This record gives sequence, structure tokens and C-alpha cells, in this order.
Amino acid sequence: MINGLGRMKNWLWIIGLFFVLSLHAEDGHRLWLRMERNALPADVSLSESTERTATLDIASRELKDFWKGEGRVLLRVSKDGVMRDGFTICRKGLDVELSSASDNGVLYAAYDLLRRQQAGDLLSDGVAVTERPSYDIRILNHWDNPDGTVERGYAGRSIWKWDELPETVSPLYEEYARANASVGINAVVLNNVNAKPQMLSTGMLRKVAVIAEVLRPYGIRTYLSVNFASPKALGELSTADPLDEDVQRWWEKKAKEIYRLIPDFGGFLVKANSEGEPGPQDYGRTHADGANMLADVLAPYGGLVMWRAFVYQAESSDRACQAYEEFMPFDGQFRDNVIVQVKNGPIDFQPREPFSPLFGAMQHTQVMPEFQITQEYLGQSIHTVFLATMWKDCLDAETYRVGGGTVADVTQHRGGIHSRSAVAGVANIGDVVNWTGNDMAQANWYAFGRLCWNTELSAEQIAEEFLKQTFSTDEHFIEPVRQLLLRSWDTAVSYMMPLGLHHIFAFGHHYGPEPWCAPPDTRPDWLPKYYHRADTVGVGFDRTVRGSKAVLQYHEPLATLYGDLETCPEEYLLWFHHVPWEYVMRNGLTLWDNLCYIYNSGVEDAREFVDLWQKVQPYVDTERYEAIQMRFERQALDAEWWRDACLLYFQQYSRRSIPADCPPPV
Ligand code: GCU
Repeated sequence: MINGLGRMKNWLWIIGLFFVLSLHAEDGHRLWLRMERNALPADVSLSESTERTATLDIASRELKDFWKGEGRVLLRVSKDGVMRDGFTICRKGLDVELSSASDNGVLYAAYDLLRRQQAGDLLSDGVAVTERPSYDIRILNHWDNPDGTVERGYAGRSIWKWDELPETVSPLYEEYARANASVGINAVVLNNVNAKPQMLSTGMLRKVAVIAEVLRPYGIRTYLSVNFASPKALGELSTADPLDEDVQRWWEKKAKEIYRLIPDFGGFLVKANSEGEPGPQDYGRTHADGANMLADVLAPYGGLVMWRAFVYQAESSDRACQAYEEFMPFDGQFRDNVIVQVKNGPIDFQPREPFSPLFGAMQHTQVMPEFQITQEYLGQSIHTVFLATMWKDCLDAETYRVGGGTVADVTQHRGGIHSRSAVAGVANIGDVVNWTGNDMAQANWYAFGRLCWNTELSAEQIAEEFLKQTFSTDEHFIEPVRQLLLRSWDTAVSYMMPLGLHHIFAFGHHYGPEPWCAPPDTRPDWLPKYYHRADTVGVGFDRTVRGSKAVLQYHEPLATLYGDLETCPEEYLLWFHHVPWEYVMRNGLTLWDNLCYIYNSGVEDAREFVDLWQKVQPYVDTERYEAIQMRFERQALDAEWWRDACLLYFQQYSRRSIPADCPPPV
């Protein structure tokens, strides 16, 4: 009897625990969409002249379920509304009117209204706001493979369940679409840029069509990454030469098949002749030949080619120069429906890079920025690093091209030549319950959407909006955690790449430090010291006119500013210069001492995050509190690891001691 009772108690305990866990688990899953559902639906209707569509049904449903206002909400699509996904929200007494030239615009207006409600930022009577997105195409790039793995994914497996499709349609797809629409993301590349040719097989395309159908009413267009050698790799032709007529016909046939299945298919993303991927250069052709061939094939359907400028081959003497060298000769030779997709910096999503010189250089070609939301080089799903600050740093950078313009200006309509402007982010999403592994990393998915919608938003505002919707509106929580998020990029840069000391990451996984990295069969540019160039004289990569001349890829006055040791911004010092250890910097300390102090400040900041998070415990549910705190603790330890490993390694060259008030590496 006692045994029986004991067993029952155990079971009850287990069932209870499961119940509690599932409740909590759901918490992270809800992202920033935590509105409380209405007991009675709000009064929402379409204006008389507006026809119902699936998208407007979603907008109505969201408002009926979650809008708490007492008046009527009227949704109106009209020709005189704001174009290109923009909208107006107008408050009259208790009523609100949402209008736009498109149903997508009305959907964005609905989410805008709900965001205002959540964040306590409602419009007063008689006020109207009008919004227009900064970029036309705000696209997530998933680096997801057909086998369910995700390249540089730190949040479980792919959300696309290819082996269940097309019969089984996971409810995740719609939740994902809703989350994207709520922050203005309107396009998605489903698969990895290192694209498997099989993505274009008829069987896969049928599956893609099912996903596209779920995303469509949320205003999201589907794109695919394609392998340039597909005609050959799928076994149908003996070449993939873009100037070969059979190859062109193969792609035409494929495009026809795709558009029959997915009439609003967005287009192709292509990584060609980079890191071993096939491309037009395999046949002696150029990036323009390759991109234009695909562009011609997609043009009749209104499709686009996003052709990546992340080209990278071992032979290059300075990897930072290669994209410019390969693309500049073809400036102005790309078709109108080609957009050259350029990573924010010239190397590879390092924690801090100067902006890619291609943004200022390509004056006659449409160019789009590519950011990385997944934190490949930023502590993956362990470290908290709020990236709006970093992306704004790039978007706001002045390129000094003829007529002037920031990176944001030259990639948006403001620059002039754009038929459709675009911006991409490499997704940090997987099938774990909270989508992004670290609950805090949801902030970067959110920030990407919001910033692409409006590049004028401040990182501070985005952080605040996110925190208010996702955690708590209490000022005791918001104020310190917003500060934490705003400091977090600088903190990570301090312990990972002080003063522009880049790519000293561990080989392959890129998580921790490995400035000594020299794996067997290393490509010449991966040999130890390729990037940091440490010797007994100093450290850093000379990209001045005496070195690789990368500075010359920037317009004046940047070329001179970066190229002169005395004027180079200190955050890029070792990016552009090989600097003597005893060089005296602006604060009067030597380079070596500065390095020691900066590494150490990164460690101190990371430790402070642990204390700070502990103080806000009362405002966060237990599950998210603990999951985040566990990561902050690990981040602080990792920061020490970075500092100790790097200083001990570089000390063998500097032959200097660590300043007394900087704890010596253990
Ligand atoms: C980085 C990353 C690769 C990725 C590549 C790219 O090098 O480590 O995994 O394929 O970028 O952007 O193409």
C-alpha cells in the first residue's frame, strides 16, 4: 500500500514536472508575441471597397484576438494608400483606421498597432502615423540543408521537415511566418548557400511549394539557393557553362517548372566560385556571365538573382581584397534583376569589421548588404551579443562615393539605381522550443526585421521594444537589461578581437580562440599568423599602401584615414596596420598594455552581466531566467579563456609583462 502510494506520488510528481516544464517551454516559444488573447473579439472590419484576402483575414484575426481598444478598427486597401508595403494608422476617437495600397501593408499596420499596445506606445486621438520600409526585400537566408542539419546553426535542426513534406505540414511553418510578418520580414531563402543540387529536383520543389503556400498569406516570398552546377550535377548535362545553349535551356525549363508550382517564387541566391562551390569561372566565364544567364531565365517571371560577392579562394594574398578585385571590373554589367549581395565586412562576419569597400565602389550595380544573425563568430547560442548596434555601425558608415551616401543610402532607393532594394540576414533559427537556442538571441531576429523596416530606428529603441514585449515592461527590468544589450557587442569585441585583431578563432567551429591555429593540410591563408601576423616587432595585418593596399579600395578621405597609423580609428588599428608592441597609443599606453587592458575589460563586463541578470530575476520566469543565467556564466568564463589564451600566445612575441593591475593569465 505504502509502496503503491509512493509510486503514485512519483508519477504525480513526474506528470506535474512535465506540465510545469511544458508551460515554461512554451514561454520561450512565444518569442515577442505574448499578447493576451481577448475573451471577446475586438470590433474589426474591412472598409466597403476592400475585398477579403487571406492576408487581410490574418490581419483581422490578429486584431480580433489581441487588440484591446474599445472602438472599431477599420482595415482599408486603396490605390491612394502608401505603396511598397507601407501603411498609415490613424486614430479617430476610440476608432482606428489602418490603410495601405496593399494587403501586406495592412498586415504590417496590424502588427504595428499590436506592438504599440504591448510596449505602451499608443497613438493619441487625431494622430496618424505613416510608415514606409527602408528596403523593399527584407530577406532571411537559412543555411539549412536537405538532411535537416543547419550550417552554422546553434538552435537544433532545421525547421523545414523535408522528409515529412509535402504530406505533413508542421505547424511551425505558420508560427514562423507570423513571427516574421510581425517584424516586417517579407522573404525567405529556405536552404544553404552551399546548395545541394537536389534542391531543384521535382520532388523537392513540390515540398518547397507547400512551404511557400503557408508563407504567402503572411506576405512572405520564397527563394532558393541554387548550386551553379545543377544541370550537370542532376545528371542531365555534361556542362554547366552559362554560355552553353543547352545549359540555358535547362535553366529555362527548370524556371518554368518552379513557377508552375510557385507562381510568386522570388528567385535564386547564388554562391559561386567561393570556398569550393562551382561557378561560371570553372568555364572561363565571369560572375556577370553567370548571374546574367540566370537573371534572363527568371526575368519573364519577375524573379531576381541575388549573386553573392563572398568570394574566397586560397590563392588570394589578402582575402579582404578579393571581392572588390573580382566584382569591380563588372560594375554596370549586371542585369537589372541581379542584386550583388555583399557581407557587411570585407572578410567574414568577424565580431567587428570596417564596412565592405564594395558598398562605396559599385556605383552602377545594385548591391545589398548581408548580415549574419546567427552568431558564428560571436559566441554562437551561448554569448549574448545584441547585433542591432553592429548592423547600425555598418549601415550608418559614410562611403564617400561620388555624391556621398552611407551604406544604408547606397543600398536603398535613396541611392538612385535600385529597382528593388534588398537586405539579407543569415537566420539564427532552428527547431528547438525557443527557436534560437539562447532566449536572448531572439532579440537579433527581432532586430533584423525592425532595422530592415526602418534603418533610422536606434539600437536602443529596438532593444527596448523587444524587452518590453518579450520579458517585462517594468522599468526596473528594462533600464538595466537595455543597457546590457547595448554594451554587449562592445564587450564581445573586447574579449574576442580588441583593436581589430581578427580571425583568431578556433579552426572549423569558430567558437573559441586559436591564434596558433594550423591544422594539417591548411590552406595557405589559414596558416598560423595569416591574419594577426604577430612577430617580435609587433602585430596586425598591414593593409596600407606598403602592405596589401586594401585601404585603396576605399574612397578618400577613408583611404588616407585608415592608411595612416596616426589617424586610423583604434578599433581597426590591427585590421589595417602591423603595429610595434611599444607603439604609444592615444591614451599614452603602449599597444601591448592596451591589448591587455581591453581583453581584461571584456572579461569584467561579461562578469558584470552575470550580476546584472541576477538582479532582474524577479521580473523573469524561472525557466528563461536560469537558461539565460547559465549562458551568462559560461560567457564570462569564455571571456577569460579568450583573454588568457590570446595574451599568453601573443606574449611569446611581445616579450612584455602583463600590467600589474591586469590579472595575469592563469
Ligand atoms: C563562412 C562560414 C561558412 C559559410 C560561408 C558563406 O565562411 O564559415 O560556413 O558557408 O561563410 O557565407 O558562404
